[in-house]
Amino acid sequence: MNNKISNGLKQFITPDLPYAYDALEPYIDETTMHIHHDKHHATYTTNLNKAIEAQPDLLEKNIEEILSDLSQVKEEIRPAVRNHGGGHYHHGFFWEIMRAPRDNNRPEGELAQAIDSTFGSFEKFKEDFSKMAVSVFGSGWCWLSWDGQKLIIEKTPNQDSPLSLGHRPIMTLDIWEHAYYLKYQNRRVEFVEAFWPIINWAKANDNYTKNK
Ligand SMILES: [Fe+2]
Repeated sequence: MNNKISNGLKQFITPDLPYAYDALEPYIDETTMHIHHDKHHATYTTNLNKAIEAQPDLLEKNIEEILSDLSQVKEEIRPAVRNHGGGHYHHGFFWEIMRAPRDNNRPEGELAQAIDSTFGSFEKFKEDFSKMAVSVFGSGWCWLSWDGQKLIIEKTPNQDSPLSLGHRPIMTLDIWEHAYYLKYQNRRVEFVEAFWPIINWAKANDNYTKNK
């Protein structure tokens, strides 16, 4: 995801959804997608651009490079870049890791084999990932990541990024209440269950083969 020229100024932009707002129905509803993408994601991007006005040379880098080494960010704007840069990047990543629902939606390609050999089976992975997702305290993200040597399931609080831990994200679920509250209210378990038919395993496999 690269920053682009908008209105003659180089800045980060909120990427469009790679599908229609209602494409993930009935698992994630159209209204939630509008608010989540058009309001929450867009606000992270706006606030990232505001923060970076204090260090415009960061616009020469892409957001992955920035989050992979936050020590290059001036201390005065580091918390803002960590939070809003994370929010900007994670949401773009999250949209791409979903697609229209499929029956019997399962991992594909090399990633399917790696999930089996690392976690025992897809069913066991699903159980472990779901438990981790449900256990996130407050707001955060649950990830399937590559830690440099193997696949891991991990969670990060707020908008903290696996990139800042030296990990490469393969697949993720947004566990902030804004991701599910309109449809599921406090029923996070149901929201996590609703994620499995809409995971874009082809994209997750791309992320795996490019980063392992
Ligand atoms: Fe979100």
